[in-house]
Amino acid sequence: MTTLDLDFVRAQFPAFGHPEMGQWAHLENAGGSYCPSQVVDLLADLFAHAKCQPNWDFGPSVVATEAMDRSRAVMAELFAADEGEIHFGPSTSQNTYVLAKAMRPMWDDGDEIIVTGQDHEANQGAWRRLADTGIVVKEWAVDPETGLLDPADLDELITSRTRLLAVTHASNIAATINPIRTLADRVHAAGGHIVVDGVSYAPHGLPDVAALDCDVYLYSTYKTYGPHVGLMYTRRSLLEQMTNQGHYFKDTTPEGWLTPAGPDHAAIGSVAGIADYYDTLVAHHGIEGTTRRDRVASLFDAFAAHEAEITAPLVEMLIAHDRARLVGAPTADHAVRAPTVAFHLPGTTSASIYDALIAAKVSCGHGNFYAHRLVGSLGLDIDDGVVRVSAVHYNASDDIARACTVLDDVL
Ligand SMILES: Cc1ncc(COP(=O)(O)O)c(C=O)c1O
Repeated sequence: MTTLDLDFVRAQFPAFGHPEMGQWAHLENAGGSYCPSQVVDLLADLFAHAKCQPNWDFGPSVVATEAMDRSRAVMAELFAADEGEIHFGPSTSQNTYVLAKAMRPMWDDGDEIIVTGQDHEANQGAWRRLADTGIVVKEWAVDPETGLLDPADLDELITSRTRLLAVTHASNIAATINPIRTLADRVHAAGGHIVVDGVSYAPHGLPDVAALDCDVYLYSTYKTYGPHVGLMYTRRSLLEQMTNQGHYFKDTTPEGWLTPAGPDHAAIGSVAGIADYYDTLVAHHGIEGTTRRDRVASLFDAFAAHEAEITAPLVEMLIAHDRARLVGAPTADHAVRAPTVAFHLPGTTSASIYDALIAAKVSCGHGNFYAHRLVGSLGLDIDDGVVRVSAVHYNASDDIARACTVLDDVL
């Protein structure tokens, strides 16, 4: 197993050398990660030298086209998908909005969709709204104590009319990894599709859409070391059943059906910088593998080991405390949960704990993080919500230690 050279990793991120940003223990990564210079430089270069309409024959336009094509190609390579199965949109919330419109004509009135009470609203709201159009929407509810989903409960909800299960790979609060392949098998057996929100998983693990057998996989690259772009994999055979959401004259090529407007060209072009960053780490650590995907998957194994190791003291502190309520599975084991730690201390507001962390220069947040329904199901105040401390591979154990020192006091 490769051990991360953390100094080298952090040297890739201009934020850590910045006089203000460098002072913070950045543990609000589930809200947005920092960008490595491979992305920052590419974005700056595209804005400076190729900020024009792509697909023409003049020089800067050719550069813009090539940059966008490269992003699509490398992301397809990392997903082990075809290029036509990769779509870029402004955000995951907007991608699910478009998806719901594109898929609704596939279904009859009275057909059923299952959403979960654990998902961020991005993978609930657009689907729930289809109830207004004759679709029956069912909720797979969470355990109100832990915030976890029990796969056994899903069997009660699946019927011969189930058309879709919309579920998160790992919630942005409960952080626990859901067994997507098992869920996919169950929903496929009933003739339905599965749409997976990977926003809180993808910064920590390289999604394998073939092994997961998911029909749609979405994530937001601004939480995965890139620009503010929503990335979506859609299985080709499913895409072909959808309805074009682009201009009517773009109806001939399904690749454009899920992009209703002109996208942010430079931002999309800079998505390839994420793969460049991974390649830099792969080369530095001497990671070998036949394909780029294999090598990056091994790199993610190293990320996982590091993330679990640095997060363990915080998770263990919360588990050991008699009043603290950790949301999700009580472990730092990376095979079970992402290194996102959300908790609540009955009798103490999350806002006051957040204030203490901020005073110690720990970047974090508190509230519902748009997992509104989950926080409501946990019986918490929607606005005060939980305190969330979320790490990624570039965090040091000192970052977590700083948070633990504050929490030791507060708890
Ligand atoms: C798990 C999860 N899903 C979806 C979203 C929404 O992503 P976007 O901001 O790209 O719409 C977020 C954002 O916080 C999230 O954490």
